[in-house]
Amino acid sequence: MRVLLLAHAFNSLTQRLWVALTARGHEVSLELDIADAVSLEAVQLFRPDVVVASFLKRALPEALWACVPCLVVHPGPPGDRGPSSLDWAILDGKQEWGVTVLQANAVMDGGPVWAFRSFPMRAARKSSLYRNEVTEAATGAVLEALEKLAAGARPEAQREATARPRPLMKQEHRRIDWTKDDTETVLRKVRASDSVPGVLDSLGGQEVYLYNAFLDATRRGAPGTLLGRKSGAVLRATVDGAVWLTHLKRAARTGESEAEAPFKLPAVEVLGEAGRALPELAEGWAPIGYQRAGDVGLLSFDFYNGAMSTSDCLALRDAFLEAARRPTKVLVLLGGPDFWSNGIHLNTIEVASSPADESLRNIEAMDELCRAIIECTSQLTVAALQGNAGAGGCFLALAADVVLARDGVVQNPHYKNMGNLYGSEYWTYLLPRRVGAKQAEAITQNRMPLGAQEAKRAGLVDECFPGSPGEFVSRVKARAQGLASAADFERRLSDKRARRATDEATRPLSKYREEELAKMRLNFYGFDPSYHVARFHFVHRLPHAWTPLHLARHRAQAWKKQAALTTRVT
Ligand code: COA
Repeated sequence: MRVLLLAHAFNSLTQRLWVALTARGHEVSLELDIADAVSLEAVQLFRPDVVVASFLKRALPEALWACVPCLVVHPGPPGDRGPSSLDWAILDGKQEWGVTVLQANAVMDGGPVWAFRSFPMRAARKSSLYRNEVTEAATGAVLEALEKLAAGARPEAQREATARPRPLMKQEHRRIDWTKDDTETVLRKVRASDSVPGVLDSLGGQEVYLYNAFLDATRRGAPGTLLGRKSGAVLRATVDGAVWLTHLKRAARTGESEAEAPFKLPAVEVLGEAGRALPELAEGWAPIGYQRAGDVGLLSFDFYNGAMSTSDCLALRDAFLEAARRPTKVLVLLGGPDFWSNGIHLNTIEVASSPADESLRNIEAMDELCRAIIECTSQLTVAALQGNAGAGGCFLALAADVVLARDGVVQNPHYKNMGNLYGSEYWTYLLPRRVGAKQAEAITQNRMPLGAQEAKRAGLVDECFPGSPGEFVSRVKARAQGLASAADFERRLSDKRARRATDEATRPLSKYREEELAKMRLNFYGFDPSYHVARFHFVHRLPHAWTPLHLARHRAQAWKKQAALTTRVT
């Protein structure tokens, strides 16, 4: 079928659908939902059999759904209606939730149902549920809906009597009363609002939005007071315990320009002097963790949004070197349950006094981490991707000897979208040695998301395992134990040492790094400001003004036709 994806942004769910639909042989194109006239033009150009609206922030125009079947992905079970479905499900403490694929009509979320899936709820951020359970359920439901549509079936009408409309969730519903709300309620309110819009609150004398809350099971204090800080996060007392808040966003002030608009940063950084004055606590929330199970070491790193600042990269490098000194045979890099890594931290770069200098520091720190992994000859290393990876994060995984990925993972192994960034992380060494020069060129230039199976076919991933992030980790542990106890373990390790020595003699790692960084310096300090402009747009979440042509294939085709006509005429 010809499927036009219509979305507010090419977000994780839309990328996953792109990958899943393409893998099933559908002809897929994307239009970002910018204006009704633009969406209608896309339909005229592409002539799709169906429009799949995967992620919208507004209703579809009648002119669109009247001329082509439009399937809307609603992140709630049949009957649920409204723009804050998941938010309410988390706040209300629902045990089970779902995703419905319905056909758009004049009633918002009230159209006939093509397919739905349900799933058990988990105590997690809204964005985590969205990236995992919702994405999994939505992919299954969309594929089922398309099969039914192709077979000439009809959707099932919704009964008005069973409709459960819920309003937009506002800050008054999310607000925390630190003198009354228990820890569980505080966690639920923050989770229901994370990553958008956050819970508006007052902290350290500032109006801020709260994100990424974790329970601290041991400490107590006067409700609402800040008890300390650790790894950039702050600890705040509730009536019956305390919670860590890792990220904050200062509330916008009236009259602020676009360039002054606040964005999410580590909590201590947002609180400034008030944050730094807090006592540094030795124990508590930590983004990096190490566990040992017999011959296998497991290093996890759960950086918010997969973004890795200079200090994150160096802390992980040190933790990796420390883990490599332990007497294990296999060292598994587990990333976090939502993201493996999305490369350097564009927000902390944006806020730095010199973003160019901070970009260079951050990429050098990332390179140090990659080098430590590449040069590790004491263990076999495994990168285990529970969650998605983007840009430098994908190449960080290739530094390991074995790459495992969860089936649902989507990678974006390219830098170009960030203002033509050249990229480092020794990608010029790591990528061609895995996939060959031709394929490396295609992957980095095409700028397309890759599903786990596609990444495996391309050579970026060695093995894929199904299931949730938790099930995936269990399989990874078993696989790592298998590697450690295999009869050929010593041979594999000595082959690895020999290969590293040969590669180093052929072309030292330092040479790859030097050449990559020379190009990156041009991105950071050269006359072309594209990277700085793209980063500004990305960090401030500015909406796209047009759909990139590599995704809007209908426009690229129309463009080519037009160009051919013009050439013929001239
Ligand atoms: N630095 C800071 N924040 C980052 C980030 C990075 N490198 N990568 C992702 N994020 C944040 C986003 O701002 C967003 O924040 P919010 O939802 O809390 O507002 C969140 O992570 C999710 O990102 P989003 O872009 O919405 O996810 P996606 O699934 O739609 O797209 C990527 C995934 C990887 C394609 C996209 O996030 C991306 O292009 N990231 C930048 C990668 C990059 O260029 N890194 C630098 C070069 S190494």
